[in-house]
Amino acid sequence: MPTEETIKRAARDIAKAKRVIAFTGAGISVESEIAPFRGKGGLWERYNPEEYAHISTFRNNPEKSWQMLAEMLEHIKKAKPNPAHLALAELEKMRKLRCIITQNVDNLHQKAGNTSVIDFHGNARWLVCLECDRKYKLDDLEEIPPRCECRALLKPDVVFFGEPIPIDALRRSQEEAGKCDLMLVIGTSAVIQPAASLPIIAKRAGATVIEINLEPTPITGIVSDYLIEGKAGEVLPRVVEAVKKVGIRE
Ligand code: APR
Repeated sequence: MPTEETIKRAARDIAKAKRVIAFTGAGISVESEIAPFRGKGGLWERYNPEEYAHISTFRNNPEKSWQMLAEMLEHIKKAKPNPAHLALAELEKMRKLRCIITQNVDNLHQKAGNTSVIDFHGNARWLVCLECDRKYKLDDLEEIPPRCECRALLKPDVVFFGEPIPIDALRRSQEEAGKCDLMLVIGTSAVIQPAASLPIIAKRAGATVIEINLEPTPITGIVSDYLIEGKAGEVLPRVVEAVKKVGIRE
């Protein structure tokens, strides 16, 4: 449990920053009952990502990939934003959060009310045709594996291993990371590239980088200035409340 002093330190840093952005990963959605990828209980403990989540497997053996995807999408469909998502939405309303760059595909930041979200790895709300690019809503999913009207295979509109990051999301994220003066890095193991380079871009540009995670990561203390160790759903509401108090005093 982080101390009040650590929470206040983050609140002061946020209050005085001019351009705050958040960079989020699977850990922020764990309290919404969506499993993370790595570590205990992670999706990759049961499914080898090279076998199930690589674009070439998806094309060659869609039935196999869709086994894993169907399970993941079922959780995503039911999931609701948790206090961590809601705290970031509040920070945006307070005009203290410029945007969120998320590696998550669960759409929970948008459901929480954030209006400026960059989906770095796509968004599972949509299915996209591999041949004609037509999009369908996830809610309309019927058969598995699903097919387009043109009969080609549909894929969740998310970035698989072996696929590039959508160019617009990549450019905008790099730009935001390079211009921010404070980045909150929340619930990510910070090991998957090119996403993991974003905190480095922010740091090199002189930003303060604050991590919120259950445990240290490879960037802790090297790229990040400090780590607030704890659950995002407990830490973030406390930080946002503390920002309000700093704001009042100033
Ligand atoms: N609060 C804060 N942090 C948490 C919580 C929580 N409640 N629960 C877990 N974490 C932390 C873990 O300690 C870990 O560092 O969240 C992190 C989750 O790491 P990963 O599962 O590796 O997720 P992520 O970093 O988002 O993965 C990046 O890898 O497989 C790909 O495309 C996938 O976007 C994903 C990318």
